Amino acid sequence: AQEPVRVLVTGAAGQIGYALVPMIARGVLLGPNQPVILHMLDIPPAAESLNGVKMELVDAAFPLLKGVVATTDVVEACTGVNIAIMVGGFPRKEGMERKDVMSKNVSIYKAQASALEKHAAANCKVLVVANPANTNALILKEFAPSIPERNISCLTRLDHNRALGQISERLNVQVSEVKNVIIWGNHSSTQYPDVNHATVKLSSGEEKSVRELVADDAWLNGEFISTVQQRGAAIIKARKLSSALSAASAACDHIRDWVLGTPEGTWVSMGVYSDGSYNVPAGLIYSFPVTCRDGEWSIVQGLSIDEFSRKKLDLTAEELTEEKALAYSCLS
Ligand code: NAI
Repeated sequence: AQEPVRVLVTGAAGQIGYALVPMIARGVLLGPNQPVILHMLDIPPAAESLNGVKMELVDAAFPLLKGVVATTDVVEACTGVNIAIMVGGFPRKEGMERKDVMSKNVSIYKAQASALEKHAAANCKVLVVANPANTNALILKEFAPSIPERNISCLTRLDHNRALGQISERLNVQVSEVKNVIIWGNHSSTQYPDVNHATVKLSSGEEKSVRELVADDAWLNGEFISTVQQRGAAIIKARKLSSALSAASAACDHIRDWVLGTPEGTWVSMGVYSDGSYNVPAGLIYSFPVTCRDGEWSIVQGLSIDEFSRKKLDLTAEELTEEKALAYSCLS
């Protein structure tokens, strides 16, 4: 039998946590043959609720689930984990300044970075979901210098999947036949959902470009982009709560593809540490198209970027540069 993999979920008593932990325990994250031990962290005011989640995990009798650690102690939570999914954070409350929210999250991610660095398993892979996701991941990277930067990422797969969903609805094709959209940049409303390289596999087996099939540049360059950018707000308006099941599902997609690999000819979007590819400033956590193999991601190189796209790539990079400066100003 395979050794269980230890998976940390922070903010596990929250909405996304409640949707995510059963997916992990069912094998959605790492496949149906991989046993897991769940480590769940939350803060003391949520301790009772976290314990309730643990009770439900026991009651669900998941065959793959070999143990549950539910704790408010960050060291206990991080000890020995192979995968860390960071969902916990400080939400923006009404009337709060951006800087105040940033400051709270910077201190959370600084502390959790140190705990992961000291106590996680070697080669632990980290996914930051909590907003501001890219900048939280950057802070985590800065304060966990012994964790390789290739092991630290943030979630833009939800935006990627939303883009696939919009194209599938528009063309009335199965979402599984649409591929190679790209989310560039920040997980925020400046992100750039790019369909210039996306394709659809037709029932004939032929692959055609999305741009050709949609044949409506005004929609692709306008409403499509804003719909994907604003989808989170639309869900909040409809549900009075933010996206949770789709965020949890995207987090599983992100880790699964990272660990088990992307299918041949398919890329996905991940927020990763920029090496300067596509003239994105190095040293930002920025969402790029990536392929994964043997547990490592690499940025897809050589895609053509037209003038329209260039502006959008730069705009979201500028926002991330500002966020980075704001985060650093909170440190001093
Ligand atoms: P939630 O408020 O329901 O849950 C957050 C949980 O984190 C709460 O249980 C809270 O007690 C806990 N928490 C707060 N500080 C913590 C700390 N220092 N350590 C451990 N746990 C802590 O929020 P929800 O809806 O589950 O969302 C979680 C985060 O994910 C938010 O920041 C949200 O903005 C973000 N998000 C990101 C998405 C993405 O695509 N990157 C998509 C959707 C949400």
